[in-house]
Amino acid sequence: MKVSAIIPAAGSGERFGEEKQFKLFSGRPLLFHTLKLFLQSDYIDEIIVAVPSASVDSTHRDVLSMSAGKPVKVVAGGTRRQDSVKNGIDVSDSHSTLVCIHDAARPFVTEDLIQRSISACEFADGAVVGIPSKDTVKFTENGFIKETLDREKIWLAQTPQCFHKNKLLQALYNAEKENLIGTDESALMEAMGFSIKLVDGESNNFKITTKDDWIRAELVASRQAQGSVL
Ligand code: CTP
Ligand code: MG
Repeated sequence: MKVSAIIPAAGSGERFGEEKQFKLFSGRPLLFHTLKLFLQSDYIDEIIVAVPSASVDSTHRDVLSMSAGKPVKVVAGGTRRQDSVKNGIDVSDSHSTLVCIHDAARPFVTEDLIQRSISACEFADGAVVGIPSKDTVKFTENGFIKETLDREKIWLAQTPQCFHKNKLLQALYNAEKENLIGTDESALMEAMGFSIKLVDGESNNFKITTKDDWIRAELVASRQAQGSVL
């Protein structure tokens, strides 16, 4: 079974205030920390990175200097995240049957998470890494609480999110037809009734969304450099 990793990195970083994927983190663009873990992974056969069209050439040059034998393709992303993912799938190896999607903005993914999310696809149409909610979650409307959701059933989705490629393509075509926009690809798969397994994630595998998250990421990186398990 061949696995294509797709790294969506074509967002504008509105909540962050700049294109966070290219901001230097420990001296290298954030994207490259994420990319490095997929280059090193034994479970990934090729990598496709989707970046803003203005950054395709420069990213391609940078990637060539680090790709170490594993095929890496760079494509222009799209307006929505699902468009970036679709552009990635379109250039994927025709022999790959599984895609493993991972946000560029989650630089602390581990080999274990990659392996577990891929393995879980053996008995499901896809698998998503997530962590249980520690807080009680309220469903709201116009600033008022409508309902308190059962915390035991609430999980916060992370990436990697891995799917059988043919089924994800069906879900993306369906989304196009039905005008569905997903904040992740799992939502588009769920809309089709596909079975998606939840895999235990890790709190350090958080997404850098705001400047506060960047500070947290620097803290995690410095602890990791000191060999601390925290
Ligand atoms: N992404 C993408 N293409 C898009 C939108 C998002 O490839 N059209 C990528 C981002 O680059 C990021 C990942 O999807 O690596 C997760 O998205 P998010 O954290 O929302 O990043 P941004 O969309 O850049 O941020 P914001 O929503 O604040 O604008
Ligand atoms: Mg976004």
